[in-house]
Amino acid sequence: MSGSNRISRRDFMKMTAGVIGGIITAAIGVPVIGYLIDPALRAGAKEAWVPIGKMADIPVGKPTIFSFTRTQVNGWERTSSSFGGFVIRKSEDAKDILILSSRCTHLGCSVNWHDDSQEFICPCHDARFSKDGVVLGGPPPKPLNQYTDFKLDADGNLLIFVKEG
Ligand code: FES
Repeated sequence: MSGSNRISRRDFMKMTAGVIGGIITAAIGVPVIGYLIDPALRAGAKEAWVPIGKMADIPVGKPTIFSFTRTQVNGWERTSSSFGGFVIRKSEDAKDILILSSRCTHLGCSVNWHDDSQEFICPCHDARFSKDGVVLGGPPPKPLNQYTDFKLDADGNLLIFVKEG
């Protein structure tokens, strides 16, 4: 009698462990599946509109620096990269702007704006670029790249269209 009681208690314990194990598996299983699906869903998100500042905060005439970070998902690997540039408002007209990348077209260092000489200067090999991004001196083979697609949202934020990175 007591033997059969012991067996049924053992069976009960096994059953309880099985049920608890099932609950734990279900609880863990859901987020794991979500994690598995997540990179596949995000893989195509290479292009995006990126906000770079309020138009009202960007003065006319003076290059205004901006930066942003993008995260690429490649399989299980996530890579974050920083990008930057300068917005140059040529007049009060919100569409009359030039948006330059700060990445030097020689070997990719970041250029800096120098108010005194009114030039962008690359600290790596002393390249000089005009306010419009044209090469004035040094080794770069071409002008600074431009972000040509931009828009303003309803709140006055300036957004640029970034194709990759
Ligand atoms: S990286 Fe800018 S001049 Fe060489």
